[in-house]
Amino acid sequence: MGTAWYPEQWPQDRWEKDLALMEAAHIDVVRVAEFAWSTLEPREGQFEFEWLDRAIAQAARHHIRVVLGTPSAAPPAWLTSKYPDTLRVDEDGRADEHGGRQQFSFTSPRYRTLAREIAEKLAIRYGHDPNVLGWEIDNEVGPPSFDAETRTQFHRWLQEKYRTVAELNRHWTTAYWSQTYDDFAQVPMHSKNENPGLLLDWKYFVTDTWASYVENQVRVIRRHADPHQFITTNTMHWNGGFDHYVMHRSLDLASWDEYVANGHYGWLDYAVQHDLVRGYKRRNFWLMETQPGFVNWWPVNRSLDPGQVREVAWQAVGHGADAVLYWQWRSALNGQEQYHGSLLGPDGTPVPVYDEVQKIGAEFARTGMALADTTPHSRVALLQSYESRWAIDFQRHHKDFDPVEEFAAFYRPLEIGAQSVDVIATDAPLESYALIVAPALNVLSAAQAEHLANYVRHGGHLVLGPRSGMKDPYNALWPERQPGPLVTLLGARVEQFYALDQPVAVSGEAGTGQATIWAEALEPLAPDTRVGMTYGGGQGWLDGKPAMLTRQVGKGTITYLGAWLEPALMQKLADRLLADAGIKPIVPGVAADVEICERSGAGKRVWIVINHGRGAQTVRLPLQIRSFLVGSGSGDSIQLAAHDVAVVDVGAAESSAP
Ligand code: GAL
Repeated sequence: MGTAWYPEQWPQDRWEKDLALMEAAHIDVVRVAEFAWSTLEPREGQFEFEWLDRAIAQAARHHIRVVLGTPSAAPPAWLTSKYPDTLRVDEDGRADEHGGRQQFSFTSPRYRTLAREIAEKLAIRYGHDPNVLGWEIDNEVGPPSFDAETRTQFHRWLQEKYRTVAELNRHWTTAYWSQTYDDFAQVPMHSKNENPGLLLDWKYFVTDTWASYVENQVRVIRRHADPHQFITTNTMHWNGGFDHYVMHRSLDLASWDEYVANGHYGWLDYAVQHDLVRGYKRRNFWLMETQPGFVNWWPVNRSLDPGQVREVAWQAVGHGADAVLYWQWRSALNGQEQYHGSLLGPDGTPVPVYDEVQKIGAEFARTGMALADTTPHSRVALLQSYESRWAIDFQRHHKDFDPVEEFAAFYRPLEIGAQSVDVIATDAPLESYALIVAPALNVLSAAQAEHLANYVRHGGHLVLGPRSGMKDPYNALWPERQPGPLVTLLGARVEQFYALDQPVAVSGEAGTGQATIWAEALEPLAPDTRVGMTYGGGQGWLDGKPAMLTRQVGKGTITYLGAWLEPALMQKLADRLLADAGIKPIVPGVAADVEICERSGAGKRVWIVINHGRGAQTVRLPLQIRSFLVGSGSGDSIQLAAHDVAVVDVGAAESSAP
């Protein structure tokens, strides 16, 4: 367990007290320096590392190791004023100024050189330091710049992609509105209200630019650092600014910053984000930041309730986090974040949540061995595609068709039913899954379609959600109609889509209920395509039309669901899909507020049982528990108070099954 610590904000004679309080809370990792450029290089070319040497060594004496942040998210004032060409420019053409952070342009060659130089200096100095566990590049990269250099690079990027402007014109269908270009230099640079082909290419360009921005520092650190020092960058909340799968190719570890901004913890909405991040590298991740209680940037910064900081921490671990770090240790006396939750108050002594964090730290220390080399294993995966999200967001067609919300609408019932779901990219290996669900795979390339078709031909069960297979990778419509390159395999297509302002009745195999927001009328083309759900009457165009179709392909199946279903019906459908694929929950019959997570590996099996509810719960397990790592109980039942957690060594349990 760890915390973000900013020693540069405090006199050195204070550090000892901080580190002793950290050690007492079982904190064994601190992330430091990610905003400390002006302290590390107070004047251009003049570096001061002694304070950092001392901070790292002093932390080590308290058994605390370090993640070093490269400081490029916060350039010093001398840099901003001497090199104004490095400044970020927003879409309306306004250049940023000093006083905030992230005021640099992600394409600026000069900024990249300066950022690489300081990263290199740090890597040379600390790359072999046994007290440095790893590196975090920058901090929550994301906002693009719209400056002249970016425009030049965008044009170059387009030229490399398309080779000839005629090819670009073809893919973007620029005959429309006389958009035809004679030269790449004529192409505008916009992130909204433009040709969908341009908008998607802008996102691909931004992705490649942020990926190369991060890689610029990764390369130089790799050159100097021991290979056991990991390299990561911390990402944020469903950020759709760039494709995170591409970004993570050059990184060793995924890490993210979890904030429950309004203080109301909807556990399924955080479960999905942990699973998303675990999917970036398809292995365990770190929670690089989370709140000790509350944030400072929401309209009402409500605190989590007593016990919920612990609930949040254990859920992260249950979904594959190997570390949880609190942001932050102590607020700077001045600066923009004075009101943010912290572990110490301005007087340097613990605030109330410190005790809860101390308890979590003690539990992590106790369970560390049992959880080492374990990870969640899922038999169902949801496919997540940034280009599909973007394509829908550019043209929602129904204002409430939020692709993230739609993704969650599929995730929640599957997570409740299976108690373990992977979230993966469309090109990830699929063979270990019994069920693959693609909620709104709007952009579908021929190669991705072939990958999915192969999965089905080898006996897999594939479910496509509404709006799938509509666009090619240039954001152009597939002429086959939906699901484009999968029409032949499905033996059916979408006849027409409809945005709904009133719910429409649907009924079929999984039960009866309503479709909202979106409904597509499906049209069987092959005789062996089975209708699984049908629309009721009243809407007109949809009346009596198929809402869901399935086709058997060898031992596999492909299903297309054309409607956004209300949650109750979605749950019934998810239960049925899981049952048909032979997927069972880890522990059947648990209450709606109780979450069961399993981590296994290296001959170990551990369950993390979390009561997300506000009342006490008794949870019955299908085995006799011998060893409680956290919590207590007897035989096959666990008593959990509100927001309480138990951790059970299932490897040491006895099956009570008859
Ligand atoms: C994060 C950021 C931190 C801190 C935190 C406050 O997004 O990485 O530096 O600002 O928010 O919640």
